[in-house]
Amino acid sequence: MVELRLPAGSKINPHGRVHKASGGGAVRTFRIYRFDPDSGESPRIDTFEVDTNAFGPMVLDALIHIKAKIDSSVTFRRSCREGICGSCAMNINGLNCLACTTAIGDLGAEVKIYPLPHMPVVKDLVPDLSNFYAQYASVEPWLKTRSPAPPDRERLQSKQDQEQIDRPAACILCACCSTACPSYWWNSDRYLGPAALLAAYRWIVDSRDEATGERLDQLNDPFKLYRCHTIMNCTDVCPKDLNPARAIAEIKKKLLERQH
Ligand code: SF4
Ligand code: SF4
Ligand code: FES
Repeated sequence: MVELRLPAGSKINPHGRVHKASGGGAVRTFRIYRFDPDSGESPRIDTFEVDTNAFGPMVLDALIHIKAKIDSSVTFRRSCREGICGSCAMNINGLNCLACTTAIGDLGAEVKIYPLPHMPVVKDLVPDLSNFYAQYASVEPWLKTRSPAPPDRERLQSKQDQEQIDRPAACILCACCSTACPSYWWNSDRYLGPAALLAAYRWIVDSRDEATGERLDQLNDPFKLYRCHTIMNCTDVCPKDLNPARAIAEIKKKLLERQH
């Protein structure tokens, strides 16, 4: 019989710290995953009761308030506060999303905040995205050409050609999609995942790129591409309304067409 063991640090210590609200106001409860792998302690869930009148309407506002006023050791990434940089991606009430564009008012009485699932944790809400970025780099996300560039202007595209890449190029690499994908959870060492595949697709359909064949060759692999089973979690969670599942299906179609 197969013996399965939980990875180190996956058992939650049930005795998290509780920070009670000091006054009245519009009190909401935030339960936040806390884990420092260097401490040797198990992860725990800390409870913060806070008056939501004291800060802005988004979950990121609450996290910034909690860090500034209650516990400065709460660790998370953020930068733009506008849904552009992708750094505040986390799992909020069971869904991968951006903390800066998720309104507290749209969530239930309790807000449960975890790091993006199935990734190693650096600390608290900060996942280690090294593999995710390496996979992105592996699709060589830049324009590849062999023909000389026109001497007097850029390599131009028609409006229709630009529309092909317009949406895929809007990806902010937040990793919400890849970390919502069951195939990626179990095979992230070999399956590229929806974000990297969307990036690959963006260059495959770029009318200026002259390495389409090489790009398709590189993806024609049972794990890199074909671990996608069209479960669609990726498209459901994308905070930029992109459709990586469709891009993956289009890559598979191009590979199929190439055989005939
Ligand atoms: S459609 Fe493919 S990439 Fe998207 S969640 Fe499903 S298996 Fe993962
Ligand atoms: S496709 Fe969407 S969910 Fe995936 S990394 Fe890009 S922006 Fe994030
Ligand atoms: S802080 Fe940049 S996307 Fe949320």
